[in-house]
Amino acid sequence: MARVVGIDLGTTNSCVSFMDGSEPRIIPNDRGNNLTPSVVAFTQSGDILVGEAAKNQAVLNLERTIMSVKRAMGSDRKFRVDHRDFSPVDISSYILKKLKRDAEVFLGMEVHGAVISVPAYFNEQQRRATREAGRLAGFEVKRIINEPTATALAYGLQSETRVLIYDLGGGTFDITVLAREGNALKVLSTRGNNNLGGMDFDNLLLQKVLKQLYDERGFAPSLLVGQDLMFLQMLKQETEKAKIELSSRECTTIAIPFVQSGVKLNHISCQLRRRDFEALISDLVDQTLELTMRAIKDAGLTVRSIDTYILSGGSSRIPLIKSRLASLLGAEKGLAADSLPAGGQKRQIRIRTKPDESVAMGAALQGALINGKNKTLILKDITPLALGIEVDGGSFIPLIKRNSPVPVSVKRDFTTIANNQTSVEVHILQGNSPKAIRNHSLGRFLLSGIREVGKGKPRIEVSFEMDVDGILQVTAHDPDTGSEQSVVLAQGNEQGCDQQDNSFSAITDLKKRINFLIHRISRLIGLSRDRIFAAEIKEITARANQALLSGSSVELNKCRIALERILGDLEMISKYLETESEGAFSLTTYRRSR
Ligand SMILES: Nc1ncnc2c1ncn2[C@@H]1O[C@H](COP(=O)(O)OP(=O)(O)OP(=O)(O)O)[C@@H](O)[C@H]1O
Ligand SMILES: [Mg+2]
Repeated sequence: MARVVGIDLGTTNSCVSFMDGSEPRIIPNDRGNNLTPSVVAFTQSGDILVGEAAKNQAVLNLERTIMSVKRAMGSDRKFRVDHRDFSPVDISSYILKKLKRDAEVFLGMEVHGAVISVPAYFNEQQRRATREAGRLAGFEVKRIINEPTATALAYGLQSETRVLIYDLGGGTFDITVLAREGNALKVLSTRGNNNLGGMDFDNLLLQKVLKQLYDERGFAPSLLVGQDLMFLQMLKQETEKAKIELSSRECTTIAIPFVQSGVKLNHISCQLRRRDFEALISDLVDQTLELTMRAIKDAGLTVRSIDTYILSGGSSRIPLIKSRLASLLGAEKGLAADSLPAGGQKRQIRIRTKPDESVAMGAALQGALINGKNKTLILKDITPLALGIEVDGGSFIPLIKRNSPVPVSVKRDFTTIANNQTSVEVHILQGNSPKAIRNHSLGRFLLSGIREVGKGKPRIEVSFEMDVDGILQVTAHDPDTGSEQSVVLAQGNEQGCDQQDNSFSAITDLKKRINFLIHRISRLIGLSRDRIFAAEIKEITARANQALLSGSSVELNKCRIALERILGDLEMISKYLETESEGAFSLTTYRRSR
């Protein structure tokens, strides 16, 4: 029997959990640890290491070691190793593959389904990239869940009415306000910063240590400005350990023996005090507190109306964070709790004994909710970022406002800006800035066939509909002429689009593209003598013809992706035939790359 696991794909650590009866339990990795470092390394001999094995060799093999890949998710960044480029999705899929393997060994059975967490503040592209990484790792990704929502599930929230989750991990910060109403767990608001976390504290501390070493010990500046990457990596790791120690001690020492400086060997030691560390991170902590207050305001609440504050993520162990939050919120601080009490004790800040494990546990619970095994709770989430369109002058008009509960459906009228204008471009964006350029573009399409009249006269209805899985449909409609265009972004849909797919293209454009692909493929099909490939082409072409008739944009997109792959393969064969002498490339043994 295959199981569904819950995965916290973290910036610094990842964690996997499963439902043991009605309780979520963390699955230890092959070294017996609950957290697996989100580190991937490529060895000289071509092996791929993930987790502790990768982290432990990072100092000696830095150029081939990739860390904090989560910060690059959804971007076009490439990691170059030995002349090969790896995308953030590729690297994340290696981490997920390891978690899958560890889970299968531990459970003694195959694992197919997964619920994977992302920061609440991730945009569509980052979510899609995460989903794609899961698919590449061999998972059927059942749902992408927001990390604070997962934490809320892990705590149960039996009797609580209003809860605030402050989640500060290694690379990201999220704040979410939730309410438990009957059997519904409703997310009321969320704010965050995808570039604020423990690694930023590490960097600040590292700069301080480098300066201290230079001022006090006169260490060679070349060493200290980062010429020596190996030394710097070692110092970075020691700095993170020192930071963690400062959570339980007032003072600590970084010591590294036998460091070469010029011709001499030196022993490095550097004293650090909690007080100084707190002064260093104070501004960043302030930013998190500001976002906390805004999230409370967005939820239409005040600090007094929130019953419980839950701290999540490894960096929430820093004492300064607990005390600053407690004084801001006027609550008792630092109560450890692995589940919430059954009422009575109000306005407390709670932290799990292991705050870095609650997200994975909540993700496993969500898996059970989807599977219908746990019917006690209905989860109602929101869209963290506004969705809307660009209008004349580069302004962004949100149709679905930030923090709107999903499912949601919004309609709004727009018009033309020039006389006799017969088409308009609908540019769909996601973000919270009033300027379109500052937001994230999801795609654009054209609505043509508008009546030729004076500017401002036509009424163009634009509607945004997002369902519970985050699938967004945008439609533009001219009621006068009946002209209509519609596109679907299958964000939460595993049958949806793959990574290169920009999803948003008008249905007519999609149909044109598919017709073109079918035509090109029919001209090149004779090049391949591989029977399996030929059968596959036939099957996908038949499906595409069906999709052209039904007009389902999700199905059209799926077919387009499949046809593009086929065409790519056929064009590759054609190139080989042009450039290679006959017989050098055996087409009968050709199999498509997948
Ligand atoms: N006792 C501690 N004191 C201070 N920082 C700590 C402590 N324990 C762990 N951390 C920090 O917590 C971070 C890791 O936390 P966690 O595992 O929750 O993050 P993550 O899930 O990898 O990141 P994210 O959720 O941001 O993607 C690291 O920066 C680590 O140094
Ligand atoms: Mg995390």
